[in-house]
Amino acid sequence: GKGAAMVTAVALRLAAQIAERKHILDTLRLNREQLMQVKNLISEDMVRGLSKQGRNRASIKMLPTFVGSTPDGSEHGDFLALDLGGSSFRVLLVRVRCGKTHVEMHHKNYSIPQEIMQGTGKELFSHIVDCIANFLESMGMRGASLPLGFTFSFPCHQSKLDEGILLKWTKGFKASDCEGHDVVTLLKDAVRCRGEFDLSFVAVVNDTVGTMMTCGYEDPQCEVGLIVGTGTNTCYMEEMRNIEMVADDDGRMCVNLEWGAFGENGELDDFLTTFDRSVDASSSNPGKQRYEKMISGMYLGEIVRHVLMEFTARGLLFRGKVSERLKTWGIFETKFLSQIESDRLAMRQIRCILQHLGLTSSTCDDSVLVKEVCGVVSRRAAQLCGAGLAAVVDKIRQNRNLQQLTVTVGVDGTLYKMHPHFAGVMQETLQDLAPQCKVTFHKSEDGSGKGAALITAVACRIRSNALI
Ligand code: GLC
Repeated sequence: GKGAAMVTAVALRLAAQIAERKHILDTLRLNREQLMQVKNLISEDMVRGLSKQGRNRASIKMLPTFVGSTPDGSEHGDFLALDLGGSSFRVLLVRVRCGKTHVEMHHKNYSIPQEIMQGTGKELFSHIVDCIANFLESMGMRGASLPLGFTFSFPCHQSKLDEGILLKWTKGFKASDCEGHDVVTLLKDAVRCRGEFDLSFVAVVNDTVGTMMTCGYEDPQCEVGLIVGTGTNTCYMEEMRNIEMVADDDGRMCVNLEWGAFGENGELDDFLTTFDRSVDASSSNPGKQRYEKMISGMYLGEIVRHVLMEFTARGLLFRGKVSERLKTWGIFETKFLSQIESDRLAMRQIRCILQHLGLTSSTCDDSVLVKEVCGVVSRRAAQLCGAGLAAVVDKIRQNRNLQQLTVTVGVDGTLYKMHPHFAGVMQETLQDLAPQCKVTFHKSEDGSGKGAALITAVACRIRSNALI
């Protein structure tokens, strides 16, 4: 009768909704073949980026870092370090004492107000120098003159260690008059302007390189640095003979991939969803950093938010009401993603998080769907990252003509560290796509700042040897 017809209608509608949900989520799923394709495209682009003729066409810039030698334990002295470009800005004092094991660190975090991040370069660097002065004061070292390791986590062209010409801002930084300029000069000018302390030497270090170096201090097999935080990037030890931009042919040099830019020449177009395109379009650098925008913490929450908006607009979520809150950029921070995906969490707690985010009209079914969306988006990110890493370790293996490579990767970054499944999925993908490499991951604490100080220490040792 009538009742049965109604039940059938409801069942049909439910089935249609499930199919619609699946259809949308499927656009965010990658199969093995696609991941292999990403790995191969990255491998090809790495080779292009290293070559003189190819590099202008490559989206992965393969930047020489002028970091070759690792610490040998004879380094000694006090070093300052600056860490700019991650989730916090910090100033550090690193005391390195002969005989490896002893590195003493002090640090202080500072904030960079939004108006300074988007003001002029002069304002940004004078703010940085104010922070250094405040830090020295608090350490009782006012007026000191120390060497400084500058972890500057943006793409820089380097022709020596103590120079870094900013190629372009990433991760929402915007300060004017910096692109195309040497950040060491900008920093030193601001120091001179304040006239209170001095920097005897400044090394420019990418966070990936600092992380690799810190890890390499303890584990000589560490030849790759990986960051999965606000942004994502990798560096590794490449043979000098393969780096066409550097004249020397002997030994190895660390190369900063700047892999976040992968996809800028359309390499990822086949895998992009409408959500990726929306996130890109509303970012501060449309068309840029396409791979980074599918992987890193600054963007994953935004992808999730766009998916949720779509589901809501189709009446599949939040009772079909697209609230102002849901339309707000940036409400889903990485830490919420990590919390929502935690297996220990009951659906009731997810509902609490959604309520905390201001998404109040949620039901229990909504929580299930939100968790599923987060899972699909972060899984794709981890797989893409694993595919890239597979290209990097396989390159090292091929460089050395090895059947099997054993290598350690030094890792840092909030997403990698806080997310419950990211590391696992990434490693699974890596193993699947680079079966001839045995990769160990080494998490680093404060790796980039400490590493920058160690690099500065090595540079100062070599310089003083050169004087003798
Ligand atoms: C961005 C930067 C890169 C950095 C990465 C991780 O991709 O361009 O230099 O290493 O973020 O912080």
